[in-house]
Amino acid sequence: MKFLVTGGAGFIGSNFIRMLLRKQPDSEVVNLDNLTYAGNLENLKDVENDRRYTFVKGDICDEKMMARVSEGCDVIVNFAAESHVDRSINDPGSFIMTDVFGAYTLLESARKNDCGFVQVSTDEVYGSIGEGSFLRPRC
Ligand SMILES: NC(=O)c1ccc[n+]([C@@H]2O[C@H](COP(=O)([O-])OP(=O)(O)OC[C@H]3O[C@@H](n4cnc5c(N)ncnc54)[C@H](O)[C@@H]3O)[C@@H](O)[C@H]2O)c1
Repeated sequence: MKFLVTGGAGFIGSNFIRMLLRKQPDSEVVNLDNLTYAGNLENLKDVENDRRYTFVKGDICDEKMMARVSEGCDVIVNFAAESHVDRSINDPGSFIMTDVFGAYTLLESARKNDCGFVQVSTDEVYGSIGEGSFLRPRC
């Protein structure tokens, strides 16, 4: 299975990539990240030479690049985001571009390539999980 992981040089994305390569031996992972202040390839130093892993420096808002990179992927998993709330107060434009337009660009790439799409986000977007509902089995 071929994964396109966007924002994979960040905190959660880098751990996700490492987990994928460990738990899914047949997986192929393309990590696309534009390496903002939050992205750091040192997070993935231990897998950089893994033949199943490729890094591409790019911006999820770049529609042409996303169309090219997502070709042949089975699923896009998006971690790329402006994620530091305090920064959104002084620089809301970059948040709108990456978190709104970038997510739209990825959705379009997924739709055109007929591949899956997973948006990693926060409870402010998805809502809270009801108390205990995550763990309690349903009859
Ligand atoms: N870390 C947490 O505790 C936490 C909690 C709840 C939700 N989240 C959400 O999970 C997601 C990932 O969080 P994180 O902590 O790994 O974020 P992070 O800030 O550590 O990483 C974000 C990554 O996205 C990259 N990026 C930013 N803009 C980009 C663009 N335009 N194109 C390509 N790459 C770009 C950055 O270089 C960085 O590597 C975010 O949506 C965040 O809001 C995180």
